Amino acid sequence: MLVHGPIEVTLDDGQRLTSDRAATALCTCHLSRRYPFCDTSHRRRSGNRPAARSFVPIPQGDRMRSTGTPQPLTKSALPQARGPLSTAVLATLRGGTAAPYTPEIGSADIEQTDPYGDDLQLALHCCYELHYRGFAGVSDDLEWDPRLLELRRQIERLFLVALRADVPGGTDVAAEIDTLLVEPLDAGGVSHHLRQAGQLWQLREYVAHRSLYNLKEADPHAWVIPRLAGPAKASLVTVEYDEYGSGNPDRMHARLFAEMMTELGLSPDYGAYLDAAPAATLAEVNFISLCGLHRQLHGALIGQLVTAEATSSPASDRMVQAMRRLGCTAAAIEFFAEHIEADAVHEQLVRRGVIAPLLAAEPELAGDVVFGIQASTLLADRFSDLLLSRWAAGQTTLRTPL
Ligand SMILES: [Fe+2]
Ligand SMILES: [Fe+2]
Repeated sequence: MLVHGPIEVTLDDGQRLTSDRAATALCTCHLSRRYPFCDTSHRRRSGNRPAARSFVPIPQGDRMRSTGTPQPLTKSALPQARGPLSTAVLATLRGGTAAPYTPEIGSADIEQTDPYGDDLQLALHCCYELHYRGFAGVSDDLEWDPRLLELRRQIERLFLVALRADVPGGTDVAAEIDTLLVEPLDAGGVSHHLRQAGQLWQLREYVAHRSLYNLKEADPHAWVIPRLAGPAKASLVTVEYDEYGSGNPDRMHARLFAEMMTELGLSPDYGAYLDAAPAATLAEVNFISLCGLHRQLHGALIGQLVTAEATSSPASDRMVQAMRRLGCTAAAIEFFAEHIEADAVHEQLVRRGVIAPLLAAEPELAGDVVFGIQASTLLADRFSDLLLSRWAAGQTTLRTPL
């Protein structure tokens, strides 16, 4: 049950809990392990093994704490090139606007490039980063440099053609979301592995990968706000408000992620693991940036968002179990603990508050929403397959080990 708040809940024993979210999902089925807050335990599971549940209330006392510590907007250093495309982009970034442009890249060369490969994905990442924070020592004027925009456009087309060819497509948004909402008992993703048998070095690698997105969590979805209207816009902003800490900078999800990195002995600096990130990691983030920056892909961005929100809550629950088993501190675990409750809310808000009114007003967007769901699932599966296969062989999943 979605309640617009902030709210205070009084339990049967008189205990009072508060939630200062703009909207809170309350559990009405009593299956939640974070009762009275929803943790999506109500959802269908394919199989009939009964879930063991306890009813332990989560203290909410810290939610309103705010120190308001100033956070400098640090920039990433330029990465090392991985092939001709990224060499061309990086040469332009280093040379600035006055540099002669000799990328030595023709359209034919670009079309020979692996759309999911290191060179193309790093080149795309560098072009997109200009629209977030930019790079240290690189002119801000290059953000709208027509030479980079032209190269980016060709790269994007190649990436999009590959994605559209590799997903089944369709227009049945409800069926796609239904698939996301079923938890297969024999599922074998990264969070399943980490919960059951993950080791600390694997957890740290996973967090390093995710830092490419989570240190700018929710930023690409802010670009879609002017492209929505009415209830869809209001609900999207409600989700974003929660991602940005509901007015409390200490509760911003990107900030919680940085604190987790510090607790795990990783660098929380923006872009610290860019050189270490393989193409599969960059491709997931690039797809979000691509859909965020292109107005014609705003339906696909909403599809990506519902995929992330609908799958995050149970995965975050597994991550909390993994981190407890590995002896991580409460401060380290907080990022995933927060996402169990937060994304139970966000899933409902995106499905009912954003997608339903959006498709009622613009039914022709259904195919784009389906594309966003299928493409982000495909890229998430590629990332997951890479991690699990490397770990199974005892190998690092990063280009440079931690
Ligand atoms: Fe979040
Ligand atoms: Fe979320």
